[in-house]
Amino acid sequence: MSKNNPFKQSRRSFLSGSVVVGVGAMASGSVRAQTADPLITEPQEWVQSFGDGVDATPYGLPIKYEGGVVRRNVEWLTADQVSSINFTPIHALDGTITPQGCAFERHHSGAIDLSKKNYRLMINGLVDTPLVFTYEDLERFPRENHIYFCECAANTGMEWAGAQLNGVQFTHGMIHNMEYTGVPLRLLLEEAGYDTTGKWVFVEGADASSNGRSIPMDKALDDVLVAFKANGEALRKEHGYPVRLVVPGWEGNMWVKWIRRIEVTNSPVESREETSKYTDTLSDGVSRKWTWAMDAKSVVTSPSPQAPIRHGSGPLVVTGLAWSGHGRITRVDVSKDGGKTWETARLAKPGERMALTRFYLDINWDGSEMLLQSRAMDENGYVQPTKTQLRDVRGLNSIYHNNCIQTWWVRENGEAENVEVS
Ligand code: MTE
Ligand code: CO
Repeated sequence: MSKNNPFKQSRRSFLSGSVVVGVGAMASGSVRAQTADPLITEPQEWVQSFGDGVDATPYGLPIKYEGGVVRRNVEWLTADQVSSINFTPIHALDGTITPQGCAFERHHSGAIDLSKKNYRLMINGLVDTPLVFTYEDLERFPRENHIYFCECAANTGMEWAGAQLNGVQFTHGMIHNMEYTGVPLRLLLEEAGYDTTGKWVFVEGADASSNGRSIPMDKALDDVLVAFKANGEALRKEHGYPVRLVVPGWEGNMWVKWIRRIEVTNSPVESREETSKYTDTLSDGVSRKWTWAMDAKSVVTSPSPQAPIRHGSGPLVVTGLAWSGHGRITRVDVSKDGGKTWETARLAKPGERMALTRFYLDINWDGSEMLLQSRAMDENGYVQPTKTQLRDVRGLNSIYHNNCIQTWWVRENGEAENVEVS
């Protein structure tokens, strides 16, 4: 039998294997197998009447049984709702695309109500012709579609000093991954005739915080998008309707929502968001600055504290997400013993540039406890560090840019807990 994949054994042996699991597992399971199961033998109510008509849900919501798959916040982080954050329920999702309805939100001054009619985008500064675009103007530029992750620099930030939050939604849920439709920023800068002495753009949003950030011109001309659709539909209000900036691979704070102004400058503005915030103060008091690209990172999403194993020993799908702001994920390893030994996981699809990659490790769980970890590698040969390795370099003053290996202690009863191994 293959070590990684119990399903690779012959179909026959897998089927007989599953019977053994069924009988040996819980009493109720074996009783159900031996007595008539009414869900199989009896006509159910849903076959005896009509379901809802097509006009019942003009815009569909998840069925009530999935009501737990929602954004959540951490109470002690939420001093004020308009300057706060909630988290994507990544423990309950699969594949890689995050539905907008449960994608984390981060606001510095609340999600504003801005219509397409009232929307304006100005490009000024070192340009031949300062321009103002309406929403309709933007729709007339050639547009592109790309899937990218957006990770807040503070993701996993509460874990620097120790294992703290008992759920992958809270430790790693400041991330989402969507297919964006938008106009390359390069085309708008060309339209305005940007001056080649302009080495930076300063971007700001229409909300009270404005969330101003400086972006080097090379990046602005490379792959930054002025986006108005996510996963095929208009951006949700909380993600910047009607237009936001998409800065592939770079920290979420630079993805300015409700973007209203782009100024071409010859030096960075050194705004609040790039000096006192989103920088990492090291042990010697020196702060790292311009740490834009998010380093390679991964996490097991299931099993995890919010997604315990309920089915007992036997075939178990271990799964998680990996990403790198420097390019593609090429490999993910999984450890069941806290990093002593590793197995290479199966990538659901080859890694895509600056997008989430789903990995699976299909194991035959013997029911003993595990210290589950995952370790990502990207196309540059970079390997995700352990917590100790990262602390050795960054010290303990940091909040941001924590990409260390996460450990879940999975007990014999299938429950999991956030722990640290040293
Ligand atoms: N843009 C504006 N205008 N105002 C903001 O508060 N928050 C930033 C960024 N862009 C913010 C903003 C931060 S810190 C992050 S992590 C991302 O938006 C979050 O995007 P989301 O709310 O769509 O998840
Ligand atoms: Co952020």
